[in-house]
Amino acid sequence: PAQPRERLRVAIQKSGRLGDPARELLASCGLTWRESRDRLFCYGESLPVDLLLVRDDDIPGLIADGVCDLGIVGRNVLVEHGLAREAQGRGVELTEWRQLGWGTCRLDIAIDEEQEWTGPEQLAGLRIATSYPHTLGRWLAEQGVQAEPVVLNGSVEIAPRLGQADVVCDLVSTGGTLRANQLTPVTTILHSEAVIAGPGHQLDDGRQEIADLLLRRLDGAVQLKE
Ligand code: PRP
Ligand code: ZN
Ligand code: MG
Repeated sequence: PAQPRERLRVAIQKSGRLGDPARELLASCGLTWRESRDRLFCYGESLPVDLLLVRDDDIPGLIADGVCDLGIVGRNVLVEHGLAREAQGRGVELTEWRQLGWGTCRLDIAIDEEQEWTGPEQLAGLRIATSYPHTLGRWLAEQGVQAEPVVLNGSVEIAPRLGQADVVCDLVSTGGTLRANQLTPVTTILHSEAVIAGPGHQLDDGRQEIADLLLRRLDGAVQLKE
């Protein structure tokens, strides 16, 4: 079991689309931090709430392992992590404590812009480049389509041109990345936004009280923005 901790630890993205808004949101709740020199760990001054700055993909695992209590992360990352754990036969207990309404994007299938889309059956036997193999796999199973996922951690959109895959399954926010690569989105397999992720149970050692206070302020901050 983890050591007793009286301070809340929140994981956010170090860099990338959700990092700065996450920090701003927490700052708007009155949080201030004394920054460590490498800025990977920020010690909370106004409240016992510390930040851990990490890769978004690592956030669910950090919460599942009890290293962090909460995280601000895209639903896409949370869902993929949950399905991956399930596939390994390990229970998942992470849930969305709040939906934040920003950082919205879609996980879409995209094909060559010159090609016509007739429906999911068209994907049968094709190689699909993605960083979300489990989310894609679930959707393909629902469609009753067998295809071959090609797992890449980044630059998914270039895979068709490199001959590595036939189509892609990737996140679309503005759509600029797909357009720049002559790809067009044809169907959505997941709608995503930034969420507060946490365990499916109450926190220990008085941390739930700190979390409740933070969430009350957060709900106020989110309402003010609306
Ligand atoms: C996503 C996706 C594309 C880009 C699409 O990456 O992988 O690279 O955003 O955005 P656009 O439609 O606005 O062009 P993300 O920012 O989530 O970063 P990551 O893949 O490095 O985690
Ligand atoms: Zn990422
Ligand atoms: Mg990317």
